[in-house]
Amino acid sequence: MNRKKITAKTIRGMKNKEKIAMLTAYDYPMAKIVDESGCDMILVGDSLGNVVLGYENTTHVTMEDMLHHTKAVSRGVKNAMIVTDMPFLSCHLGVYKAVENAGRLISEGNAQAVKIEGGEEVAEVVKAICNAGIPVVGHLGLTPQSVNQFGGYGMRAKEEKEAEKLISDAKVIEAAGAFCIVLECIPKELAERVSREISIPTIGIGAGGGCDGQVLVIYDMLGLFCDYVPAFVKKYADMDTAVRNGVVNYIDEVKKGVFPQ
Ligand code: KIV
Repeated sequence: MNRKKITAKTIRGMKNKEKIAMLTAYDYPMAKIVDESGCDMILVGDSLGNVVLGYENTTHVTMEDMLHHTKAVSRGVKNAMIVTDMPFLSCHLGVYKAVENAGRLISEGNAQAVKIEGGEEVAEVVKAICNAGIPVVGHLGLTPQSVNQFGGYGMRAKEEKEAEKLISDAKVIEAAGAFCIVLECIPKELAERVSREISIPTIGIGAGGGCDGQVLVIYDMLGLFCDYVPAFVKKYADMDTAVRNGVVNYIDEVKKGVFPQ
């Protein structure tokens, strides 16, 4: 099938028409599979810190890590829109530095958009990056880069006050110029309300089926990363078992002299 390159405009136009499918990828072969399978958006998530680099959380991921993996992903992708995460502190040291970092992810990394965690407190930065011609994806609810502030990865915005703040943040981030917003681990009724009250698409993860699209960490949904799997994840494959079986068979055949023939 002759697919077109997906852009921020394509994604905005999908609201209320077609659900948006997004998955993470961190390297060339996986990005190629995800793209050729028809995924709309590929997120080079800073979850790479947990599922690829073996860190405890995403606060250890650097700009250089994100650049390295975004470049690898971009070499495997023809059609999907590549969104890459602005890593920890990359947009908190002044607007100038934030625009410079976002620019590097686009010009050196070859991404088409950046994702920024946070609400009103990052609105100025979102606006400046959009003004530089760089599409921005917002990220509200559970924001893993703030894990040390929140003390864990539980569901967010369960209380009325936090829910109202999240709705207001979504509107502020939309007004700042973001073209879609990831909603992570919030009650499904709240995600539905945000999706109704803003005109840009919402992409849910652990936020129910009422969002305009869904995203999952690819190694979670393929069953390859098993250290910690959030309850909302659906496993579409069991790669851990498949890889283990392959490796055990190889070792066995080498030991027995069966391979190479
Ligand atoms: O880093 C990541 O993979 C993400 C998704 C969980 C949305 O931000």
